[in-house]
Amino acid sequence: MSQDAIVILREDHKEVRALFREFEKSTTTESRKGTIVSKVIELLTVHTYIENEVMYPEVRRLLPDLEDDVLESYEEHHVADVLVMELAAMKPSDERFTAKTTVLIENVRHHMDEEEDDWFPKVREGLGRTQLRELGAQLLEAKKRAPRSPAQPSALKKAVDAVVS
Ligand SMILES: [Fe+2]
Ligand SMILES: [Fe+2]
Repeated sequence: MSQDAIVILREDHKEVRALFREFEKSTTTESRKGTIVSKVIELLTVHTYIENEVMYPEVRRLLPDLEDDVLESYEEHHVADVLVMELAAMKPSDERFTAKTTVLIENVRHHMDEEEDDWFPKVREGLGRTQLRELGAQLLEAKKRAPRSPAQPSALKKAVDAVVS
């Protein structure tokens, strides 16, 4: 059964937000923080890929009025990509590990809030249920081929595209 694209993306956000909250708890140990950040990196790599490769280009094509929002989103993803790539090379014991994660969390939360509060409602209004379900099926397909680590070639490609395209 195909699922609505916005429902799929919101569920991804929810999973990421739960990990962010756990990271911020004062009782979270350093080693658990390391595990949380690894999981966040994996989730964000997949989520960014399916939005960059499917959701954003399709919405841009179907709803040209939302083009500016899409372009801003690519830039916000790019900033997160840079932080994710740097964090992927760090250990939880590194001096700047928590600081860098905190900046990543701030950036990604802001971006997810904008998508949820502003962009998703516009997309839902512009696309019908059927189109959102078709997009949902494409998102689930893209998840299967998505990179899971920022070092994988298809993940690097999106970072480079953000600069040169
Ligand atoms: Fe996004
Ligand atoms: Fe998103």
